[in-house]
Order: sequence, then C-alpha cells, then structure tokens
Amino acid sequence: MGSALARAFTAAGHPTTAWNRTPGRAPDLTTVTRTETVAEAIEASPLVVVCLLHYDVAYEALRGAEDRLAGTTLVNLCNGTPAQARAMATWAAGHGARYLDGGIMAVPPMIGGPDAMTLYSGDPEVFAAHRDTFGALGTPLHLGADPGVAALHDIALLSGMYGMFAGFLHAVGLVRPDGIKATELMTLLEPMLRAMLPSLTHAAEQIDSGDYDSNVTSPLAMQLAAFGNFFDTARDQGIRPDLLTGIHTLMSEAVASGHGNHDIGALIEVINV
Ligand SMILES: NC(=O)c1ccc[n+]([C@@H]2O[C@H](COP(=O)([O-])OP(=O)(O)OC[C@H]3O[C@@H](n4cnc5c(N)ncnc54)[C@H](OP(=O)(O)O)[C@@H]3O)[C@@H](O)[C@H]2O)c1
Repeated sequence: MGSALARAFTAAGHPTTAWNRTPGRAPDLTTVTRTETVAEAIEASPLVVVCLLHYDVAYEALRGAEDRLAGTTLVNLCNGTPAQARAMATWAAGHGARYLDGGIMAVPPMIGGPDAMTLYSGDPEVFAAHRDTFGALGTPLHLGADPGVAALHDIALLSGMYGMFAGFLHAVGLVRPDGIKATELMTLLEPMLRAMLPSLTHAAEQIDSGDYDSNVTSPLAMQLAAFGNFFDTARDQGIRPDLLTGIHTLMSEAVASGHGNHDIGALIEVINV
C-alpha cells in the first residue's frame, strides 16, 4: 500500500520522499526519493504520511525520530482502532505535530482511481490544508474532529465487506463439492447480491426509525425456519458452518425476544453485549 500511495502522490506532481524498513521494495517506483532513515524522510516534507502494518509498527518506526515531528502534519493511514487513533493523536501533539488519522477504503491497485475513498478525522483545518494533496489518492472525506471517527468508520466498512466475503466463501464452499466452479457461481451470485443491496437501505431505515412493523418483507421467523436447511446442506456438502453461525445465533435470539415478524434489521436490537 505504501508504494501505491507514493506512486499516486508523485503521479499527481507532489515531490515524495519515502522510507521503508526493507530497502529496494517496489524497484519500479523511480519517481520517489528514498531515505535510509525515518528521520531523513520526515525532514524532507511538512506532510508525513505513515502507512505500515499497524500502529505498533508505526510507533516502532518513528522511535528515535520523534524530535523531527515538531511542526509537521502527521497522517497515519495504518488500520487501527478508534482508541489507537485517539492515543496517537495525543502522542503526536506531545511531539508538536498536527495529526490526522485515516483509513484507506481501497486495495492498492485502486489508489489514485475514481473508486478509492480515503477517510480522515482530526482537526478540520489541518484536513482542509492538505485536502488537495490527499485527493491524489482518491476521494478524501473528513468525518469529524474526533481523531477516532475515521478508524471507527474504517472498521465498520471493512466489517461490512467481510460479511460479504463470508457469504461468498460459504456459497462457493457449498457448490464446489458438486464440481461447480467459483467463477460459475459468480454469474448468479453477483447479480443476486446486487439486486439485494437495496434491502440494506430498507433495513437501515427500519433501524433508524425503530419501526420494524412497517413494510415487512421477510419475517425473521420464516428466515430462521430456513436456517436448518443451511446447516444441513453445509453438513451434507462437507463444509464448516462457521461463517453462518454468528448470524444464526442473533436470529435465534431476536426471534426468541419477539422479533419473529420483523425483518433482518431487527437483529441490531440483540447485537449489543
Ligand atoms: N493492502 C490493502 O488491501 C490495504 C487496504 C486498506 C488498508 N490497508 C492498510 O494499509 C496498511 C499497510 O498495508 P500493506 O498492504 O502495505 O501491508 P504489507 O504489504 O504487509 O506491508 C506492510 C508494511 O509494513 C512494514 N512493516 C511491517 N512490520 C514492520 C516493522 N516491524 N518495522 C517496520 N516496518 C514494518 C513493511 O515493511 P517491509 O517492506 O520491510 O516488510 C511494509 O512496508 C495496513 O495497516 C493495512 O491494514 C491495506
């Protein structure tokens, strides 16, 4: 991801200096100035973008170069929790740096393209000052002054994505024992999932209004009754039921607590621990 970011910055005309633990990564990236130390990379620019494996790695990389951060704007794009983002904002302020936390809602080949979305949070004036530069990566969105709010949305959006991947993997696992290829299944699964997308908006509206009684399309009691077939088929096809058990547990609890005649959005009422 770091090389994709550096490539996009230079493609947009921003002189870019990069440090990476292992020298020589992305040898085709010739438009970037490379440094041997983190301190040199920080000194090269007033805008310092960190994109490493996770926050602990970022702290580790910056250790020993903290005194160079004063007066810079530090933007951390590592995946992390809201609490980690807030703690790093405090840490950066302690070293005299302005701080934005961010989340990248794209895979590396998308960076710089029309579908790449990057989320930021922290001081809105700091974001405004660098908004055009962030635009080199994709569409930059500022979500609030609380440094943790970008990470919260990052984790929320990725959680939605992993739900999609879980459904996909389970579906593929079911058909493969019968010699049906994953790509064959996709010719049906993709249009079906696309057609189902509006049902998420329907569920979101029910959740926000708290009105689960209006416009019910697929009562949970009916859905729960079908779930036995899902588990039986998984067993018969020899695949693990794990990717279905979480939602089945919530569905059972929701029906038991009186949501049997409500749509799937009502599961939100039993999700809190
Ligand atoms: N790839 C994606 O699809 C994607 C999408 C959105 C967000 N992200 C986020 O972007 C961040 C980077 O992801 P990535 O795809 O670039 O991961 P990656 O390909 O695994 O690269 C990890 C980076 O962290 C460095 N690193 C790991 N451990 C280190 C250590 N102990 N000290 C110093 N550097 C260390 C690696 O350096 P070396 O080159 O020396 O190993 C490398 O630059 C992550 O937080 C990830 O969650 C990734």
